[in-house]
Amino acid sequence: MKILVTGGAGFIGSHTVVELQEAGYDVVVLDNLSNSSEKSLERVAKITGKRVTFYKADILDREALEHIFNSENIDAVIHFAGLKAVGESVQKPWEYYENNIAGTLTLVDVMRRHGVKNIIFSSSATVYGNPAFIPITEECPKGQCTNPYGWTKSMLEQILSDIQKADPEWNVILLRYFNPIGAHKSGTIGENPSGVPNNLMPYITQVAVGKRKELGVFGNDYDTPDGTGVRDYIHVVDLARGHVCALKKIEEKAGLKIYNLGTGVGYSVLDIVKNFEEATGVKIPYVIKDRRPGDIATCYSDAAKAKEELGWTAQYGIKEMCEDSWRWQKNNPNGYED
Ligand code: NAD
Ligand code: UD1
Repeated sequence: MKILVTGGAGFIGSHTVVELQEAGYDVVVLDNLSNSSEKSLERVAKITGKRVTFYKADILDREALEHIFNSENIDAVIHFAGLKAVGESVQKPWEYYENNIAGTLTLVDVMRRHGVKNIIFSSSATVYGNPAFIPITEECPKGQCTNPYGWTKSMLEQILSDIQKADPEWNVILLRYFNPIGAHKSGTIGENPSGVPNNLMPYITQVAVGKRKELGVFGNDYDTPDGTGVRDYIHVVDLARGHVCALKKIEEKAGLKIYNLGTGVGYSVLDIVKNFEEATGVKIPYVIKDRRPGDIATCYSDAAKAKEELGWTAQYGIKEMCEDSWRWQKNNPNGYED
């Protein structure tokens, strides 16, 4: 089977390309490199020993998509391409709706014109808003998102679901990721945020490597065991493996399916600091700051449905997540710029 991976040069995409190639799939990557480097794909090829067919293209560019679908015999699409910076999305809502929604509409239209009706979509636990209950099952109602990025995910879930309902030939799998961290064991591919990291683990690793002075902990007065926010951190390689399992489900004619991809375990910010220090031996100085607007106290998954229906469970624990994040950062202090 030949799989088109949009956004395949990015953090989750590059790790997924490794798992796909190792599972025997032919992989074609499309990425406009707006938030990534082609070097990630060179490193993927070093890991797997297989070339990645790469198209530098934008999902908004219908002609470029037509060219790819005419040139490659695509069976299914794993759709990672999208803008994902929460704060930036508040400043630039039009750009987020245009890129993520108009881009996906263009992609899906070209897919159906070519008879390719299999898609796995990168959604997020953000669609649950402030969750109605914890642990969060897929039955938990979707909530109010606090930013345009979150709304693009929520709206795209709706759009893809409606398309599948109207045409049951479509197989649509919506994967709701919890908090991906970690990196491939080789330490050669990983998360490469531009500028000051928004997310916790890249911030911690940049403190550890000496690029930032200290971590700001956003609030210690939440209703959680130690007052800091609790999240479900998942190793990016486990997340990538989840996509391979989802593809198998597509091959069995999935129809419309929704799965959480998380570990089912919640860790607080201070738990993560402590685990990182223990796993790496590097001290992380921190200061308590105000709460970050839009943050919720607690968010972790019930991961039972993915286990039952996809045969998937997360295999890596917090120790490996910390060790692997650190190996990547230590070996590549400037990401792919070295
Ligand atoms: P990433 O930024 O590393 O990867 C996204 C890739 O898409 C980048 O390589 C970027 O260059 C590319 N891209 C963006 N717009 C494009 C366009 N118009 N045309 C072609 N390529 C385009 O992000 P990631 O962390 O790997 O996330 C992958 C997907 O998973 C995204 O859709 C993201 O919203 C979603 N997601 C991520 C997280 C997370 O915490 N990392 C959590 C939930 C969901
Ligand atoms: C972020 C995104 C969310 C996305 C999710 C999945 C934001 C606001 N939300 O969620 O849309 O679906 O990733 O990966 O970016 N923290 C600190 N100091 C920091 C950074 C973070 O204390 O410098 C805390 C946060 O307050 C939170 C936890 O660490 O309690 C995790 O934060 P982060 O990594 O940004 O992820 P989320 O906010 O869960």
